[in-house]
Amino acid sequence: MRLDKFISNMGLGTRSQVKKMISRGRVVVNEEVVRKTGFIINPDSDEIFLDEMLVAYDAYVYIVMNKPIDVISATNDTRHETVIDLVKETYGNRKLFPVGRLDIDTEGMILITDDGKWSHDLMSPKKHVKKKYFAHVAGRVTEKEIDLFKSGVTLTDETLCLPGELEIISVEDGLSKVYLTITEGKFHQVKRMFEAVDMEVTYLKRIEIAGLALDETIELGDYRELTEEEMEKIKLED
Ligand code: URA
Repeated sequence: MRLDKFISNMGLGTRSQVKKMISRGRVVVNEEVVRKTGFIINPDSDEIFLDEMLVAYDAYVYIVMNKPIDVISATNDTRHETVIDLVKETYGNRKLFPVGRLDIDTEGMILITDDGKWSHDLMSPKKHVKKKYFAHVAGRVTEKEIDLFKSGVTLTDETLCLPGELEIISVEDGLSKVYLTITEGKFHQVKRMFEAVDMEVTYLKRIEIAGLALDETIELGDYRELTEEEMEKIKLED
């Protein structure tokens, strides 16, 4: 791969910025200063330093975002801002996309990557990846709903859901705060599960995916790359 392309792909500047960095002697490849922007490197075996900082080659980008309401989980849209629009780094020419979907009025944890296999595995209905939501539900959620969800609720269109784990946090002034963990990703699933028991979700936030909790220090609309530890946590069975 060309040296300028490699450094730019790592998100360290546009191609023209990186070309300037290289021609100014700021880049060292295997202990030699290289000023030729088109110098060919092997990202797997060459050691590349920019201003004495090792430029590590990441095969893919893995991001966790705290999605705000009114932003859609798509790559581009003519009317609404998308989660990809919120990612300000260029990451070279990588084609980032959200892993699965959250509704426009749902907040919370969304993963963003360019790793198709990882995304596919996380979304595959066969893998039964757990997704945990925090919800406000109008009305009083009781043991009855816990049991119904546990045995697999049937949606109003007759679709049968796999068992879901419902936990009641509080019930006050006609509003229930709950956690719901499900292992599927049907369209509007959480809202439709409550609709099936004649209740309405008035606020929804995803707080966990595959055992990894949303880092609550990430502000709404903000994001960061997943750490190696987090990637390990989210590791999926083959
Ligand atoms: N279930 C929903 O109803 N909406 C979401 O965004 C996610 C799960």
